[in-house]
Amino acid sequence: MAYLEIRGASVHYPVRNTWGTTGEVVRAVDDVSLSVERGRILGLVGESGCGKSSLSRAIMQLQPLTAGSIELDGTNLSALSAAEVRRRRLDFQMVFQDPYASLNPRFSIFSTLAEALSRREPLPRRHRESAVAELMNRVGLSPEHMYKYPHEFSGGQRQRIAIARAIAPRPALLLADEPVSALDVSIQSQILNLLNDLTRDLGLTMIFISHDLSVVHYMADDIAVMRRGRIVEYGPADEVFGNPQHEYTRKLLEAVPKMD
Ligand SMILES: Nc1ncnc2c1ncn2[C@@H]1O[C@H](COP(=O)(O)OP(=O)(O)O)[C@@H](O)[C@H]1O
Ligand SMILES: [Mg+2]
Repeated sequence: MAYLEIRGASVHYPVRNTWGTTGEVVRAVDDVSLSVERGRILGLVGESGCGKSSLSRAIMQLQPLTAGSIELDGTNLSALSAAEVRRRRLDFQMVFQDPYASLNPRFSIFSTLAEALSRREPLPRRHRESAVAELMNRVGLSPEHMYKYPHEFSGGQRQRIAIARAIAPRPALLLADEPVSALDVSIQSQILNLLNDLTRDLGLTMIFISHDLSVVHYMADDIAVMRRGRIVEYGPADEVFGNPQHEYTRKLLEAVPKMD
């Protein structure tokens, strides 16, 4: 059985106006079924507003499903109690688009990473510095900066910190929602390479989300193309990229700048 099984998942938001809810809904995610095998990278691609973040929040249990189910390693997550979800959440971690918003500006990198490292089991005080240093090295940051604060780092370095925090509790699944969209083009590929290396080295399963098909093709083993809340095409990355079946996928491909 696949590590992650999404079955008939829907996320509908009530439409509100000045007087309250109208009875209508936005079908942000509409009957989506997907599975991800252990150790593979699934790329989820689609235009802004198609429902990618709603689906990823549902997988992370940050957003309730309107219908369907999400199973992680054979466990139906919606059936768990809040306490059980908190414990299971160590197994699935997320990297967000904006590393600045996702890091607490009042905590040094040392505090943020030491806290993340002690989430699964207590980390004795005398080991904290060396464990944080090792983690920083792993994501390409120099440990000499561990007592600095988020605003003292560049956007790319902040995303490395966010990635370090995500892998600290040794998750099995990493969900990256547009992790390079807020970064300078010149450093995007460094962060993509880092995510790729970590996924392979740590044997992670990953869901990689982007509106950019070329970025998804670079990262993913399999690609799911999402449009208006639905998956319109799904298959091995090279097939979807090289021989798209759906008209919408071809449109996304035309938007990809041609390499010379
Ligand atoms: N909390 C929310 N309440 C109401 N509508 C929302 C909410 N979040 C997202 N939406 C709507 O759901 C749709 C999908 O949004 P989103 O999941 O953010 O897509 P994407 O990540 O692909 O840009 C959009 O129409 C968006 O306006
Ligand atoms: Mg989004």
